[in-house]
Amino acid sequence: HKLHPLLAALPKCEHHMHVEGSLSPELLFELAARNGVTLPVAEDDSFASTEALYARYARFTSLDDFLHYYYIGMSVLQTAADFETLAMEYFKKAHAANVRHAEIFFDPQVHLARGISLADVVRGLRAASLRATAELGGMTSLLIPCLLRHLPVADSGELVSQLREGYWAGGDEQKQEETVVNALEAAFEGDKDAVSLRGALAGLGLCSSERDLPPTLWREVYQEARRHSVSSAEKPTLARRGATRLTAHAGEEGPAEYITLALDHLGAQRIDHGVAAATDPAVMERLAREQILLTVCPISNVCLRVTKSVKEVPIRTFLDANVPFSINSDDPAYFGGYIQENYCAVQEAHDLSVDDWATIVRNSIRLSWCDDARKQVVL
Ligand code: ADE
Ligand code: ZN
Repeated sequence: HKLHPLLAALPKCEHHMHVEGSLSPELLFELAARNGVTLPVAEDDSFASTEALYARYARFTSLDDFLHYYYIGMSVLQTAADFETLAMEYFKKAHAANVRHAEIFFDPQVHLARGISLADVVRGLRAASLRATAELGGMTSLLIPCLLRHLPVADSGELVSQLREGYWAGGDEQKQEETVVNALEAAFEGDKDAVSLRGALAGLGLCSSERDLPPTLWREVYQEARRHSVSSAEKPTLARRGATRLTAHAGEEGPAEYITLALDHLGAQRIDHGVAAATDPAVMERLAREQILLTVCPISNVCLRVTKSVKEVPIRTFLDANVPFSINSDDPAYFGGYIQENYCAVQEAHDLSVDDWATIVRNSIRLSWCDDARKQVVL
């Protein structure tokens, strides 16, 4: 398409990418061998080879069908170094597509259930994030843990306690001071493992199976997270250090009503996917009025049969209604498309104008969760 060179050159922000969803079959098998992880080859021929796995990924029938493979895949991630390798591979691909700022999801509960500490996961991801800034043209990133809807709500509550204790900035300033002092003392004593990860994580998300799991079930858990968060107006310095930002997947397989519930009951400041909004004029009107960003993932929607084609993703409807959205890859290694392919697929299906793209890029920068100074540079 004649606009593709322009699309490649656009400065991009990605807001919806699960780092475990960037695990390629090649890296999956490499890490399985290195870490001695047994894949379920006996039950599922799909794990016989990279080719078989790619073939299986090409015919997902639903969100849950995909999630089954996605949760098995991530079992090969064992050490902080594995997470660093995984995230670094993503950052390099994103950088090649001119991504200047990325907000990355990960699924702590799955890793905790496999006996891997949250500290190891975050240390690895944070190392990659810092390396990406140093080595990839100053690219910035935020790390956002997601709660998993298919697990008991109490499990989410335990994770949020851990996040409040040691990973989110803001909240109890006294406690923060103590954490810093403890970390300095630990560093002095040569205990590198005890170096504080406070501030390493920027917010909270909610993902996994959606059908029959309304956001209201996580109301109290999000309330706990909100109690910890600081608004940028009140405490600008803490906000700069990474106040707790709230988002949730809603309106992917679920109805538009789940978007409303996520906004009203969870205090979500952004909605992941949200394509079901197009079925409800009242929801559309609200998203436009409150300028709530939808992090749309067109190729994912087609792969998981949320829509029949990228043409059916309501891009034009959102543009016409002034509903802000960004275009994202979701689980690029599973759906066969990174951010650039998603931009191009949207262009091919919707034949947007240069002005439309200017709107999309401006909204995706403006509604990013980096600070304002960074937004100036991204532009
Ligand atoms: N986890 C990873 N990708 C997801 C998606 N598209 N929807 C819900 N949960 C997910
Ligand atoms: Zn997602």
